[in-house]
Amino acid sequence: MTFETLRVDVKDGIATVTVSRPDKLNSLDTQAIAELHRAALELKADASVKGVIVTGAGPKAFVAGADIGELSRQGPLDGRERALRGQAAFDAFATMGKPVVAAVNGVALGGGCELAMACHLRIASENAKFGQPEVKLGITPGYGGTQRLPRLVGSGRALHLLLTGAAIDAEEALRIGLVTKLVPRDQLAAEAETLLRTILANGPVAVALVIEAVRRGTEMTLEEGLKLEADLFALVSGTEDMHEGTRAFVEKRPARFSGK
Ligand code: COA
Repeated sequence: MTFETLRVDVKDGIATVTVSRPDKLNSLDTQAIAELHRAALELKADASVKGVIVTGAGPKAFVAGADIGELSRQGPLDGRERALRGQAAFDAFATMGKPVVAAVNGVALGGGCELAMACHLRIASENAKFGQPEVKLGITPGYGGTQRLPRLVGSGRALHLLLTGAAIDAEEALRIGLVTKLVPRDQLAAEAETLLRTILANGPVAVALVIEAVRRGTEMTLEEGLKLEADLFALVSGTEDMHEGTRAFVEKRPARFSGK
C-alpha cells in the first residue's frame, strides 16, 4: 500500500496506520481523507490483517484537525461533500470488522478527535490533548464530532467541549471516558500493540460481533438491542470458534481459534 499522507506498516497481523503530514501537524486535507478511506478498505479486505492501530507521526500531534486552509476556501456544496467524505472515511474504520485502537500521541483536535472516536478503543500518551475547536473557527464539526462525542461521554460533557471549543488534557480525557488508558509517550506504541494482541488472542468472530453489537446497539432501543444481541449469540453459536473455545476450557488447555 503506497500513500503520500500516511504510512501503513503490517507486522505479525497488526497494521499500524500513521497519519504523516509533519509540517502541518498531521492535519487532514482532501488527499489524507481519501487515503485514510482507501487504507481502511484495503485493511478490511486483507485477511492477513487481524487488527489495526491508528496514530500520528512525530512527537506533537495525533491529528490537528481538518486542514483549515482548505476549509477557508469552501462553499456550502463542497462543505457538505467534504463532511460526507470524511464521515465515510472514518466510518470505514468503525465498520472494519476488526478491532481498531487509536494510539493518541499528541493533539487530537477537531477531525483528530473525530478520527480517534471512530476507532473502537482509544489510549493516549500523557501529552495528548483532545477537543472540538470548530466553533472557534465559526464552523461546526463535520466528521462525526457532534454525534460520536455525546455517545461516548454523554451530551452534557460533549456540549461543554463542543460549545467552548476548549481542549482538555489527557487526564481529563481519561476521567470522562474519552480514552481508557494513559501511558508515557515512549510506551504508547508498545502499549497499543499489547492491548490489540490481548484482544486478538480471543475468538476473532466473537470480537467482531461484540464490536458490531455495541456499535449498532447504541442506535437502538434496549428491546431492539437485546434482540440483536440474541441474534448475534445465535450466530456465534454456530461457529467453530465457539466449540473450540468452550471445549478448550473443559479440557483445561488454551484455545486455538480459527476465526470460523
Ligand atoms: N490545518 C492546517 N494547518 C495546520 C493545522 C490545521 N488544522 N494545525 C496546524 N497547522 C499548521 C500550522 O499552520 C503551522 O504551519 P506553518 O508552519 O506553515 O505556519 C504548522 O501546522 C504548525 O502549527 P503551529 O500552530 O505553528 O503549532 P503550535 O505548536 O504553535 O500550535 C496547535 C499547535 C495544535 C495548538 C495549533 O496548530 C492549532 O490550533 N491548530 C488548529 C487546530 C484546530 O483548530 N483544528 C480543528 C480544525 S477544524
